[in-house]
Amino acid sequence: MKFFLDTADIAEIEEAESWGVLSGVTTNPTLYSRIGGKLANFHEHVKSICSIVGGPVSAEVVSLERDGMIREGEELAALAPNVAVKVPVTPEGLAAIKALSAKGVSINTTLCFTVPQALLAARAGTRYVSPFVGRFDDISEDGIEHLGRTVAALANYDFGHPVEVIAASIRSANHVTQAALLGADIATVPFAVLKNLVKHPLTDRGLDAFLADWEKVKNS
Ligand code: G3P
Repeated sequence: MKFFLDTADIAEIEEAESWGVLSGVTTNPTLYSRIGGKLANFHEHVKSICSIVGGPVSAEVVSLERDGMIREGEELAALAPNVAVKVPVTPEGLAAIKALSAKGVSINTTLCFTVPQALLAARAGTRYVSPFVGRFDDISEDGIEHLGRTVAALANYDFGHPVEVIAASIRSANHVTQAALLGADIATVPFAVLKNLVKHPLTDRGLDAFLADWEKVKNS
């Protein structure tokens, strides 16, 4: 499974990149506003992220109708060769996915909650499908079970172009474990979750024991 960082924070992206584990970035307007982002700087910010990360950088359109989505998508795609345009799965979004993907723009279909939504996005030409996990958990449904259905359904078909599943709305290490066991191609994770993925109490305990023993060796 590949790891994308779900953030707009440059420092977080640089840190994850330095670990050698970063295959891409996903952003959205909420994440950009969280770092105090201004509309006037948005395109420059996307370009900065694209210069750090070699893999796809998803940047979201904010229009809700097809012409606006297509215009924004073309502008975003022109910023860097590794931009993937994030489009919501709506009828207008599907039309934008069709038009943009026909022009060679890579699309990440977002706000995806059902198997039919994923199948329609794939058929329209999306490169990535992002089923949301945590938001199902928020309404007391099993987000991982829904993710499993989408992964299994997409694997039944050849869409004539590659379609990868990005497990999104990931809130915990357990989400990542379950997504990997289901065969999701990618997990996009907040930096706090990525840091947790590296940790285990037994790793810390092993390190403490090692350091204590090394002290004895040094003092012998
Ligand atoms: O990539 C989509 C993700 O940012 C949504 O996460 O935690 O807002 O449900 P969340």
